[in-house]
Amino acid sequence: MSRFDGKVAIVTGAGRGIGRAHALLLASEGAAVVVNDLGGSSGGEGADATPAQQVADEITTKGGRAIANHDSVSSWAGAEALVRQAVDTFGGLDVLINNAGILRDKMSFNMDEAEWDAVVDVHLKGHFAPSRFAASYWRAKSKETGAPVNAKIVNTASESGLYGNAGQANYAAAKAGIASLTVVMARELERSGVRVNAIAPVARTRLTEAVAGDFMNAKEGEFDRFAPENISAVVAWLASDLSEGVTGQVVKVTGGQVQLLRGWRPVTEASDDKPWTIDSINAAASSLFAKSDRGVPPFMPELEP
Ligand SMILES: NC(=O)c1ccc[n+]([C@@H]2O[C@H](COP(=O)([O-])OP(=O)(O)OC[C@H]3O[C@@H](n4cnc5c(N)ncnc54)[C@H](O)[C@@H]3O)[C@@H](O)[C@H]2O)c1
Repeated sequence: MSRFDGKVAIVTGAGRGIGRAHALLLASEGAAVVVNDLGGSSGGEGADATPAQQVADEITTKGGRAIANHDSVSSWAGAEALVRQAVDTFGGLDVLINNAGILRDKMSFNMDEAEWDAVVDVHLKGHFAPSRFAASYWRAKSKETGAPVNAKIVNTASESGLYGNAGQANYAAAKAGIASLTVVMARELERSGVRVNAIAPVARTRLTEAVAGDFMNAKEGEFDRFAPENISAVVAWLASDLSEGVTGQVVKVTGGQVQLLRGWRPVTEASDDKPWTIDSINAAASSLFAKSDRGVPPFMPELEP
């Protein structure tokens, strides 16, 4: 018995990079996989059926079950068709891995409308649209059977969004939105038996090659820390029953390191039983902001003691 025998999974953006590694691992563990990929450039231009088909073929050649899907995750109708294809082809849906992504980096003051729209569309809408149709499928199934469905969504956030990387206003805003969407959908779907978590991966793919240069390449004899395959075991764990009870969480993952990340939370507080005035806020400010807390927060916060 493999861990995903009898399960059906959709992996978006599975034609290359991290998503490809997820699809191969889930299939090798027995899942029937819908390999979604639009096949465009790293900036989201164009389309090509080859990447998704190649991964689906790689799985079936090894004796696994897979089918390619070429819909754009940012298309509402495409997302609906993607979920329907999983159900029609393999008889159900148990796991949705939202992973598809593109980059169009620019400083905010130079960014144009198309750069903003394309990135927010693929990431934020491209996570929500498949999740929305999967969620309505699972909710209907749970109502019909009167039992929780035991399904999982794993989203793909990014440290860029959680810590706010300069030069990526479009991407970071979308990724922070994905982290928030993860918590919202975890709350909404809990009663139907759907767990929703997210990862913030770091790996060597075409999206990072240009900026990371040689830094992400393993030195001779060293463990290949930035291989995309390192991300997939964590995703498969989150998508499996082994992670029972874990929902609404964001986990950073790279080879050799996983971290549980937490978002906005109260840090300091001032209170009064009268309406705030500019002066009373000013008087409270010193207890709200220590001198060291007044500037832009650090990009990579330290592990809390
Ligand atoms: N590589 C990293 O270090 C890193 C860091 C943080 C987050 N991420 C995220 O991981 C995910 C995977 O990225 P990757 O690094 O493997 O990049 P990648 O370019 O190798 O893979 C992304 C895949 O998504 C597909 N895709 C793009 N737009 C699509 C659309 N509209 N519909 C369907 N498929 C589409 C692409 O064709 C591509 O095959 C992305 O969400 C990315 O933002 C990656």
